[in-house]
Amino acid sequence: MNNKKQRLFTGIQPTGSLHIGNYLGAILPAVNRQDEYDSFLCVVDLHSITKPYEPKDLRDQIKGVVLDYIAGGIDPDKSTLFIQSHVPQHCELMWLLNTITPVGELQRMIQYKEFKERFKEPQGGILNYPILMAADVLLYKGEAVPVGDDQTQHIELMRDLAKKFNRMFGDTFPIPKNTIQNPLRIMSMHDPDKKMSKSLGPKSYIAISDNPDTIRKKIMSAVTGTDIAMTAGTKNLFTLLEQVAPKDTYNHMYEKFENKDLQYSELKAVLADYMVEFVKPIQEKRAELENNLDYIASILAEGSERARKIASETIEEVKQKMGLM
Ligand code: TYM
Repeated sequence: MNNKKQRLFTGIQPTGSLHIGNYLGAILPAVNRQDEYDSFLCVVDLHSITKPYEPKDLRDQIKGVVLDYIAGGIDPDKSTLFIQSHVPQHCELMWLLNTITPVGELQRMIQYKEFKERFKEPQGGILNYPILMAADVLLYKGEAVPVGDDQTQHIELMRDLAKKFNRMFGDTFPIPKNTIQNPLRIMSMHDPDKKMSKSLGPKSYIAISDNPDTIRKKIMSAVTGTDIAMTAGTKNLFTLLEQVAPKDTYNHMYEKFENKDLQYSELKAVLADYMVEFVKPIQEKRAELENNLDYIASILAEGSERARKIASETIEEVKQKMGLM
């Protein structure tokens, strides 16, 4: 690994099966950049426990995301793959950044507001969630943070905290940014005014692990409208088609749409065929990896060792600058 490369960091919560929004929004962009950047791919288990969860299932879910990263194209020989809670410095830097974060900024976060709405009395973890996310990236002096559009506000806070720290204690952190020019927001198949999300239930999302029949059913019954028109649902189908089909196919379908010569059934059938093909190699690779868990364990051991080394150097520098040494 070349240390002169800029660092990339992205994280995924182990909250169940990965959906196509996670894959297209974050994993694939990271896969496409792993030669360009010194990449850190993290399973953010400490973030996932801010929501109600089953402790007995967490271990398997964490393993699941590790398998998804590798099956999805992350090459452990090029990139550092690890689990957030295996590197205690994430929490340490979070506390240090906590001391310079205005509470008002945290209360403005959409995610926090949504939780407040849903659970009435959210725990401190959900309020402080974005500080831990900032710590994740800044610990490695990450510059590139490929994430979906839903994370824009969190990235803004991360940038503000890096700038504020540099102003208060001296130049320390590069200012990270989302390196995806038009971050994706894949919408729910079932309710296309909302983003695709596990919390909306399996009808809303296409899981990377869905079998061909399920994928076809979900796409064929996607909510669009009756007459062909650019509704939120149609736009979502075109966004997905653009991601999983060859450019020519996308252009051809789009032209037919513009000429009012396209039926939803045709658009959906074409998308379903390409989607099934798109996830197939990921599913095959994942099945192979399931039988090779020793290999996974060794990758994680190596990954967290490398992560801890860099993390402890940053913590030492930060503590010194803050007068704590
Ligand atoms: P999480 O696990 O909710 O989502 C993981 C990634 O998937 C993207 N994503 C989507 N992209 C497009 N369309 C969608 N419908 C969609 N749904 C999810 C998310 O934007 C994300 O990139 N807070 C982060 C995890 C995190 C993190 C970090 C990310 C923790 N620390 C540091 C980057 C850097 C999250 O909510 O992940």
